[in-house]
Amino acid sequence: MHTLTLTPPARSVAPTRIVIGDDALSALPDLLSAERTVVLFDQSVEAIAKKAVSSLQNPLMIGVPSGDASKSLEQVERITAQMLGAGCTRKTVIVCIGGGMITDLGGFVAGVFMRGVPCVLVPTTLLGMVDAAIGGKTAVNAGGSKNMIGSVTHPKAVIVDLTLLQSLPAAQVQQGMAEIIKIAAILDQPFFEWLEENIDAVLAMKKEKTEECVIRAVEAKVRTVEADDHDRDVRLLLNFGHTVGHAVEALSGYTLPHGSAISIGMNIEMALSGFADAPRVTALLKKAGLPLELPSAHAKKDLWAAMKTDKKNEDGSVRAAVPQHIGEGKIIALDERVFLSLKP
Ligand SMILES: NC(=O)c1ccc[n+]([C@@H]2O[C@H](COP(=O)([O-])OP(=O)(O)OC[C@H]3O[C@@H](n4cnc5c(N)ncnc54)[C@H](O)[C@@H]3O)[C@@H](O)[C@H]2O)c1
Ligand SMILES: [Zn+2]
Repeated sequence: MHTLTLTPPARSVAPTRIVIGDDALSALPDLLSAERTVVLFDQSVEAIAKKAVSSLQNPLMIGVPSGDASKSLEQVERITAQMLGAGCTRKTVIVCIGGGMITDLGGFVAGVFMRGVPCVLVPTTLLGMVDAAIGGKTAVNAGGSKNMIGSVTHPKAVIVDLTLLQSLPAAQVQQGMAEIIKIAAILDQPFFEWLEENIDAVLAMKKEKTEECVIRAVEAKVRTVEADDHDRDVRLLLNFGHTVGHAVEALSGYTLPHGSAISIGMNIEMALSGFADAPRVTALLKKAGLPLELPSAHAKKDLWAAMKTDKKNEDGSVRAAVPQHIGEGKIIALDERVFLSLKP
């Protein structure tokens, strides 16, 4: 027998440039000197997408139907087939314009097309701007579970143009607030206290408060991903609400929006962990108009079975990230009997 060791070179990943502001889109053309640009967009923001890339020569425009069901391998296959048909190469750049659905799906395509092409993310939802587009996690749903096939593919740049939020319905602002509350509650106590003061102004999309909120959330996430981009330790905390939330979302057939699902998830996971300051987090979720209770349509044993497929699980235990104090978190194992005995 002969054994050799191959030590791959240290992974050299270029830093991601994140541009936040009212005129952030003006930075886009300079980032796209590629031979060919593919523009992947959520069909409901087609007008935004066309305007954003109006200065480009002959981009390949690919629309994707709205909704989380489009985060699928079928869409990956359809998009890559179109790119191959159009003669895209390793020098092609993919621009993803839409919410977390598009940035997760398009980021994944960028990671696997010819083993990787650069991508630029242009989030158009509050949730996308503060969370989904930041940090390089990409995924599609598979096997009846959320985000089961994916990669960590850091984008070349993220363009957070706050004017794109003007067309966003209030219900989608609430969805984004779920991830903002999550980030503040588990990572950043001063930001959480700021939110307690300012959440109404952000929900009303008051310009300065919204900008400050987005910048603070992005900064907290950037610090976390810089310390751990592969969910080895501190990034796991950003899964607060997601063990229960992803199960609720998958069981709804992806009809329950992600923010609503993780709001329910945070509330239940805090109840299971006995976190003393849970009422402060719940108060913010309530103010944001987010749901807190498990949908009665799903039996708890079915939810538990879905939670058992969670990526954080180890040695058969179902695990969740929960705050210990505001701004600090830990990973705990959830108890099946306690979960099944929760009211209602
Ligand atoms: N990769 C990550 O780190 C990460 C983090 C958090 C969430 N996510 C993922 O993000 C997804 C949720 O993202 P989302 O809430 O942005 O959902 P989404 O992309 O489905 O967008 C929500 C809705 O808003 C519409 N929309 C988008 N931009 C709009 C605009 N400017 N004006 C009007 N309507 C607009 C969309 O058509 C859609 O109907 C989930 O799949 C979740 O798993 C990923
Ligand atoms: Zn999430």
